[in-house]
This record gives sequence, C-alpha cells and structure tokens, in this order.
Amino acid sequence: MPYEATTSDGPDSVPGRSQTAGAAIQIGSPSPEDAAEIHELIAACPPLDTNSLYANLIQCSHFAAHCAVARMNGKVVGWISGHRPPGKSNTYFLWQVAVHADARGQRLPRRMLAEILSRDAQSGVSQIETTITRSNDASWALFRSVAGWLAAPLREEPWFDRDRHFAGQHDTEFLVTIGPFKAPKASG
Ligand SMILES: CC(C)(COP(=O)(O)OP(=O)(O)OC[C@H]1O[C@@H](n2cnc3c(N)ncnc32)[C@H](O)[C@@H]1OP(=O)(O)O)[C@@H](O)C(=O)NCCC(=O)NCCS
Repeated sequence: MPYEATTSDGPDSVPGRSQTAGAAIQIGSPSPEDAAEIHELIAACPPLDTNSLYANLIQCSHFAAHCAVARMNGKVVGWISGHRPPGKSNTYFLWQVAVHADARGQRLPRRMLAEILSRDAQSGVSQIETTITRSNDASWALFRSVAGWLAAPLREEPWFDRDRHFAGQHDTEFLVTIGPFKAPKASG
C-alpha cells in the first residue's frame, strides 16, 4: 500500500506556498512504468542534471527500494533517487530530489524521505549523504531543514571537484552528511 496523505495535513504544511492544498498525494517505491514520467519531471526541474531514461529505468527497478515517487491526481510530482553506498552500512545516499513547481512548499521531499527511511531496505541507516553545488540555494535550504527535522548535525566538504573530476564542465559538488540520527517519525 502506498503511503497517502493530503497536501494540507500535518503541522509541516506551509501556508501560502501550496497551490494544490487538499489534493491527495501517494508516495511509494517506483516501478519501471514510472521511469518515463520521472525522466520528464527531472528535465522540468533545473538545475538538476538529466540522466538517460535507461538510467532512470535502472533506478526504478534495481534501486526501487531506495527511491520514492509521489503522485498527485495521478501525475508524478515528486521523486527521490538514492542507494546504499558500498562499504557504508550506516548510510543512505540521496542522489536527486525533484518536486514539480505545482507541488512545492508542502514538505514533499521530507515526506518522501521519511517513507524511504521507514523501509526495511534502510535498516541500520543513521546518516544521510547527498551532494549539493554551492549555488543551489533551494537544495541547501532543504537539507538544512531536513537536518533540523532529524535533529542531527550537518557537515559539508568538497567532493567532486570542478576541475579534477568534472573537467571544468560542472560546478564542484559538496558532500553533505546529516547524522547521526535515530529513525525519524513518519512525516505527514
Ligand atoms: C529543492 C526542491 C526539491 C525543494 O522542494 P520544496 O517542495 O520547495 O521543499 P520544502 O517545501 O520541503 O521546503 C524545504 C525548505 O527549503 C526552503 N526552500 C524551498 N525552495 C527554496 C528556494 N528556491 N530558495 C530558498 N529556500 C527554499 C523552504 O522554505 C523550506 O525551508 P524551511 O524548512 O526553513 O521553511 C525543489 O525546489 C526542486 O525540485 N528544485 C529543483 C531541483 C533541485 O534543485 N533539487 C535539489 C538538488 S538534488
């Protein structure tokens, strides 16, 4: 059964930012049939890099237990991709988070993350890693907010470097670590 909540329920709703208050949102693991819509959502959410549709299909199959898709009125409006990095049994790595402009401001990233962290596949996780470019203000705000929700410290360090790793084609990605934390309460 997918997790279901209305966009206006719970103390985490943000008055004034929702254009879709009251609409039911379903959150769950993706299936390969979702990949094409997810690919479109990512393309509509700059500054995210698009991956190939094939890469999204692999995420929606091999890595489905570590990803979440959110639907509102049947349409894909939210996406988190991630995985458990090799050799780090306490870590969930969050690769991308995207929320359609129509569904922003409703804590959808946190709701999707809560649903992912509640799964058996995330057993033993006590920290989250993600990467953020310096100029992505929305992403920094989001992950600072997530650290507050998890009551955990946030650390950052340069990781994939503009010149050394991206051949000057992409801004440096900072590795952001949030943790340690205890299992979060469900986020409605
Ligand atoms: C980043 C993104 C997922 C946030 O979605 P959202 O639905 O607005 O997120 P939330 O409602 O949970 O807001 C979380 C926090 O971020 C803040 N925030 C959201 N958008 C912001 C923006 N553009 N600038 C500054 N802060 C912003 C919110 O005010 C909130 O802060 P608070 O907890 O202190 O009140 C969405 O803007 C998006 O898809 N952006 C394009 C893709 C992207 O950059 N993804 C992140 C990199 S992987």
